[in-house]
Amino acid sequence: MHPSERRVQRIVERCLRGLSVEQKVGQMVQAEIANATPTEVAEFALGSILNGGGSFPGGNKQASVDDWRALADAYHGAVRKSTHSDHPVPILWGTDAVHGHSNVYGATVFPHNIGLGAARDGDLMEAIAVATAREVAATGIDWTFAPTLAVARDDRWGRTYESFAEHPDVVVEYASRIVAGLQGVAGEPDFLGPGRILATGKHFLGEGHTTDGRDQGDVVCSEDTLRDLHAGGHRAAIAAGVQTVMAAFNSWHGTKVHGHRYLLTDVLKGALGFDGFVVSDWDGFLQVAEDRAEACGSSVNAGVDLLMVGVEWRAAYHDLLQQVSAGAVPMARIDDAVRRILRVKARAGLVSCARSSARPATVEESVVGEPSHRELARRAVRRSLVLLKNDGVLPLKRDAKVLVAGDGADNIGKQCGGWTLTWQGTGNDNSDFPNGMSLFDGFVEATAHHGGSAILSPNGEFGGDSPDVAVVVFGEEPYAEGDGDRDHLSYSTLHAEPLAILRRLQERGIPTVSVFLTGRPMWVNPELNASDAFVVAWLPGTEGGGVADVLFRGPNGKLDHDFHGRLSFSWPRHAMHTPLNVGDTDYAPLFPYGYGLRYGDAIDRPGRLDETDSARGMPARDRPCTMGSTYPR
Ligand code: GLC
Repeated sequence: MHPSERRVQRIVERCLRGLSVEQKVGQMVQAEIANATPTEVAEFALGSILNGGGSFPGGNKQASVDDWRALADAYHGAVRKSTHSDHPVPILWGTDAVHGHSNVYGATVFPHNIGLGAARDGDLMEAIAVATAREVAATGIDWTFAPTLAVARDDRWGRTYESFAEHPDVVVEYASRIVAGLQGVAGEPDFLGPGRILATGKHFLGEGHTTDGRDQGDVVCSEDTLRDLHAGGHRAAIAAGVQTVMAAFNSWHGTKVHGHRYLLTDVLKGALGFDGFVVSDWDGFLQVAEDRAEACGSSVNAGVDLLMVGVEWRAAYHDLLQQVSAGAVPMARIDDAVRRILRVKARAGLVSCARSSARPATVEESVVGEPSHRELARRAVRRSLVLLKNDGVLPLKRDAKVLVAGDGADNIGKQCGGWTLTWQGTGNDNSDFPNGMSLFDGFVEATAHHGGSAILSPNGEFGGDSPDVAVVVFGEEPYAEGDGDRDHLSYSTLHAEPLAILRRLQERGIPTVSVFLTGRPMWVNPELNASDAFVVAWLPGTEGGGVADVLFRGPNGKLDHDFHGRLSFSWPRHAMHTPLNVGDTDYAPLFPYGYGLRYGDAIDRPGRLDETDSARGMPARDRPCTMGSTYPR
């Protein structure tokens, strides 16, 4: 055993001996910051807190970095001063920094995973993880619930954009790079050192394979499929030293993973050798049985070590305590869970209860949204764009007169998507992103001072002279989790306006470039037909300027940036063309996995695509949201 691990073990055993049963149970509960005060967290010796999507210090969406640090200090301070224990155990604060520190006002928001998958760039991934860790550490937070290692197989799923790819290769490669970027390299001196944070492999296991792509649904597949398609990212993350794993909401053959002892204990902790702790998903443990206490006990017995509780953390605490006194959960299981939690805390250097902003993992406040991080995010945007069609209208010249249309053109909230400031990513406007740049801002930057112009017209109307070209930016509205589940992939059935704009422009003889903001491949044949060039920008985040960087020639007329992105998801031929995945026996996508044009490629003039909408008449979404509980919103 490595000497530092021997030290960790000593700390863990000493600490464990000092804890009462109540304190051990407290360590196994994670409460939400809106629902547990610092005093309560200290009083119950809770092991952890989180901020769920849409929960901020003081309930203020525009809370400053100072406010976040002050709140972290308040929790740590209360625990340190706790009169309930001679040896108070420091808490861990977890957050969904899933595309940058995306809950924090002014933070750098990177493209969502689907775009990063298209970038096929492991170095970039590690650099993004390093930058994200620094921004998280600067706010006094220790832990991110990322990376998501799902391999999404049915694009109707509302979490498709959180998946890097429909094929495990990309996920496996990225898993280890991200974990190394967030935590540092296991075994090296800076592992969990300054500016590093704990990572979470989530969600274990199989969530990308639910029937019909239903969020939190049932997975019906063999164990071989589970292993070969879905476990690879987790295996790689564990090999890279990931310290926590989040259980998945889905079931496997009807049994919820949160209550699945074989998967959580035998496979994850046994066969895969995971020695960190398993955190439940948001109230996920409650889904395993009707009775609350029984659900709690069964989930812990199955292998969940830390209960993430939405609101009722007191109930979870009492339920677990009751299960222990009733003998339903053996003390050995509690000790194992707490040992795992303490081990992670010890490895993270949280053995002394220093004020969080003075803790080694914390870096200076100014890194949140710092220019080098924004430049990195802009680079990630450039690398993630996928060119599906170009009849020669691209690249644009900087002295062109460009009409910039569509409701996504000047809308940073829309380009960021879900898990941005709010849980669903809705209700945000440009003023919520003080450091952000809309796509339109990028078009202005590209043309101003170069003899051209960019004119914003969301509905595509214009007066006076015709523009040389129109760029129409459109796409999905933000969503997260089950709220993003769809019954089909037809874009225009849900949003008719962009197609109308494109057709009006075409009728007037204006060349059109579509820029599609989306969390998944969608059936856009009508929009493709109505566009001279079509670019998929995914959900690029706050640095919208990266789009113009690639669409325009450089100031000297040369190509500064070519397209680079390649589809990490197969593109559907019709609106019901899902599941559709590379390797299918009857694989016949419109654009295959790996597709993506470059400027140097021969000009692509595909024939007119079939516009028969197989989803016509289907409701946009007829399934109830399966979320078991509510977030602070
Ligand atoms: C959720 C998600 C999970 C997230 C957690 C905390 O409902 O499934 O990915 O980390 O809540 O916000």
